[in-house]
Amino acid sequence: MVIITNVTEADLPKVYEVEVESFEDPYPYSLLKAYYYLSRELFLVAKEGERVLGYSLGIIQFGYRGHVVSIAVKTEFRERGIGKLLLMELERKFREYKCTYSYLEVNYKNIAAIQFYNKLGYKVVKLQKNYYGKGKHAFIMVKSFIGDKGFE
Ligand SMILES: CC(C)(COP(=O)(O)OP(=O)(O)OC[C@H]1O[C@@H](n2cnc3c(N)ncnc32)[C@H](O)[C@@H]1OP(=O)(O)O)[C@@H](O)C(=O)NCCC(=O)NCCS
Repeated sequence: MVIITNVTEADLPKVYEVEVESFEDPYPYSLLKAYYYLSRELFLVAKEGERVLGYSLGIIQFGYRGHVVSIAVKTEFRERGIGKLLLMELERKFREYKCTYSYLEVNYKNIAAIQFYNKLGYKVVKLQKNYYGKGKHAFIMVKSFIGDKGFE
């Protein structure tokens, strides 16, 4: 059975494994550890026993914006609903912290992730040029928790 729960320090090496297999430019381990100390309430893992199948990580910005910093699921476990569980639980926490919307950046070429976010109710609001480096653009995507309003 897959459960969504808060990350523990012992999970971090396994989260890093998911990170490395999921991204071309993975976050360094030290950054994941820093987020663990900074924002562990919003650092979630999908676990089956002691295995980490995926993670989601958020922070609260300006006191009202939930920022999805990262989300990833191990390749062999994708398209089974685990990413959705991880994002929905992160959004539930954003709401609990009184955020009015959820916000994220996604590589404009990452079609799988864009479709995933679309399915979960996110809309593209902006193209942020060179966000990940020269020629590596990002879409800004948002999802309001309070109807059409709620964005900056
Ligand atoms: C994006 C990611 C986290 C999605 O996780 P996942 O567990 O495969 O997603 P789910 O199975 O929960 O899918 C949820 C919905 O998104 C859709 N979806 C997921 N992957 C998709 C894909 N590759 N193409 C089209 N739709 C997709 C599913 O069809 C599903 O829709 P449904 O609810 O109508 O069935 C996963 O693909 C991943 O780890 N990618 C690499 C890391 C990454 O790019 N992260 C995003 C960085 S911004």
